Amino acid sequence: MKHFLAIADLSTAEFNQVLSTAKKLKAEWRKRGNKPILKNKTLGMVFQKPSLRTRVSFDMAMLQLGGQALYLSPNEIGLGQRESVGDVARVLSRFVDGIMARVFAHAHVTELAQYSRVPVINGLSDHEHPCQALADVLTIVEWRGKLKGLKVVFLGDGNNVARSLMFACALGGAHFVCASPQGYALDDASVAQARALAKKSGGSVELLVDPKAAARAADVLYADTWTSMGQEAEAAERAKVFPPYQVNAALVALAKPNAIVLHCLPAHRGVEITDEVMDGPQSAIFDQAENRMHAQKAIVAILMGGQARRVKKA
Ligand code: CP
Ligand code: NVA
Repeated sequence: MKHFLAIADLSTAEFNQVLSTAKKLKAEWRKRGNKPILKNKTLGMVFQKPSLRTRVSFDMAMLQLGGQALYLSPNEIGLGQRESVGDVARVLSRFVDGIMARVFAHAHVTELAQYSRVPVINGLSDHEHPCQALADVLTIVEWRGKLKGLKVVFLGDGNNVARSLMFACALGGAHFVCASPQGYALDDASVAQARALAKKSGGSVELLVDPKAAARAADVLYADTWTSMGQEAEAAERAKVFPPYQVNAALVALAKPNAIVLHCLPAHRGVEITDEVMDGPQSAIFDQAENRMHAQKAIVAILMGGQARRVKKA
């Protein structure tokens, strides 16, 4: 693994390795804190969009591993505007040991990776949110003991978060279902690619329109905003078609009694998810948010700290 731009960049072995490293680092952090395996290493963080979780969890992950993170706000770099994406990568990668970027166009993270001398991590693009999907899987395994064989249901827009979750489920042998209104489903090419992976792992990928049919006997129900960052002009139009996909008590009642509820956050309470569900006993949402830090520690440890070799030997 050289960069981490999309879940499907990982082989099954790498996917499992990231998860086991995350678990190990989380346990170590809980016991006596992490060892400074990233001493003197710096992660440059380029943001074209706002963030709470991504910014703070990467910052803390680097700090707790003995390194540091540098926050570069949307106004500073002007990715592709003040300076070409390639030149930003060429220059920034002379100063730092890793680059994390949150961008609009996915092509911008692939271009950064193309011209960077150091590993590039996708901290959300219009196509994928792979760090989120790792935290999602870590949470599912903590709450339900496994991923393989579970029915994981995403409700709403076939967006970046849904796509990364689909690929993670396909690698991990889960049965992924995405229920979206007509016109908002995941794209055919991604679905075909995920189905090919699922075939090997014993998982499956299904697209539905009916949210109730999707939620029936689910092990995991997943909500995200109906209007992602960058789509604000479509918010009113989207608000008309998405209400049947709200994750509320009636929908949760259709899932298995031990089903868990996830949301990548930020949530619009009372819109795509109700307070009752978010604050209820089946909500794993705040563990999921914490797990961003643990999952990303594994990513930076492997990409920037040579943990791959160490893990292999252990
Ligand atoms: N889930 C997530 O990526 O949150 P932020 O947008 O706050 O980083
Ligand atoms: N789909 C959302 C996720 C936010 C973390 C967005 O892209 O805005």
